[in-house]
Amino acid sequence: MDLETLSARLAELQAAGLEAIASATDPASLEAVQVAYLGRRGELKTLLGGIGGLPAEDRPRVGAIGNRVREALEAALQGRQAELDSAALEARLAHEAVDVTLPGRPFRRGSLHPLIETNREIARIFGQFGFVVYEGPEVETDVRNFQALNIPPDHPARDLWDTLYTDVPGHLLRTHTSPGQIHVMQQTAPPIRALLPGRCFRYEAVDASHGFEFFQVEGLMVDEGTTMADLRGLLDAFAHAMFGRARPTRFRPGYYPFTEPSVAFDVQCVVCDGAGCPSCKRTGWMTILGAGMVHPVVLRNGGLDPERYQGFAFGLGTDRIAILRYGINDIRMFLENDLRFLEQF
Ligand code: DAH
Repeated sequence: MDLETLSARLAELQAAGLEAIASATDPASLEAVQVAYLGRRGELKTLLGGIGGLPAEDRPRVGAIGNRVREALEAALQGRQAELDSAALEARLAHEAVDVTLPGRPFRRGSLHPLIETNREIARIFGQFGFVVYEGPEVETDVRNFQALNIPPDHPARDLWDTLYTDVPGHLLRTHTSPGQIHVMQQTAPPIRALLPGRCFRYEAVDASHGFEFFQVEGLMVDEGTTMADLRGLLDAFAHAMFGRARPTRFRPGYYPFTEPSVAFDVQCVVCDGAGCPSCKRTGWMTILGAGMVHPVVLRNGGLDPERYQGFAFGLGTDRIAILRYGINDIRMFLENDLRFLEQF
């Protein structure tokens, strides 16, 4: 081979090499190009192997051309490598990018059970008058559920509560939240403003308006000089907050062994506004709670001196209130866990 041919072949090799480098699209193919052109058995080495056949004075010139070709290819390889690296980085960043402008994935939100919701609303209203929520146990002693509340064993007043007894003598499922009054009085010094929401149990035949399991909220206020007028004012404020400002209310005489005097507290029927309908048994009124002035015997059983302290108490049915708030016609739905019902709240 003569000088001219060799120079031309080197120029061709450079052109072909540059093109191969430019069209390599990933690190592996770029490496293959490098090996093919610049490797130990690559094209450049092979071509330069022919240098020995040239006259001695031409050899350095070919060597210089060969070096320039090597340098050009090496520079191109480096450039291409950098391009491929940054393209790979771009691709990774694009792939991993978080688009913070996308709407979030909605997650399923539950809602409060209507009874819990109603209990909280009751607590919120009485809370504005300084009443604090306490909790009593669901399994009670006969003493606190009855005797301390002025209902002795075998007293006919027990017939007011159809009771579920436990296997443990002297223990039962509380029939009302009133035993909570005893807990609070024994543990708290007056002034007392307590609210005791909770589940109660009675041995009842279940129908649309009776369950063997239901909820009550007990209220208890004890202080010096507490009067029935305080009770009346508080209950009116509660009824108006719960059922609207204009809703008429009334006290009727009632009987409970643990209060004297005792009353039933009625609100005008929220279904017919007093005209008379099946919901209010055509009376125009609905009883939402029982109440009265705490009996001196009960105060004493709670460890308080009835000469010094007076108090009032009330017990309202959460289920009843919830029925009126939401227009529900069967209390059994509260405990059936039917999502079609529960999802409406
Ligand atoms: N414990 C009564 C019941 O379950 C309701 C009640 C009436 C509670 C009068 C009271 C009250 O605190 O003063 O029927």
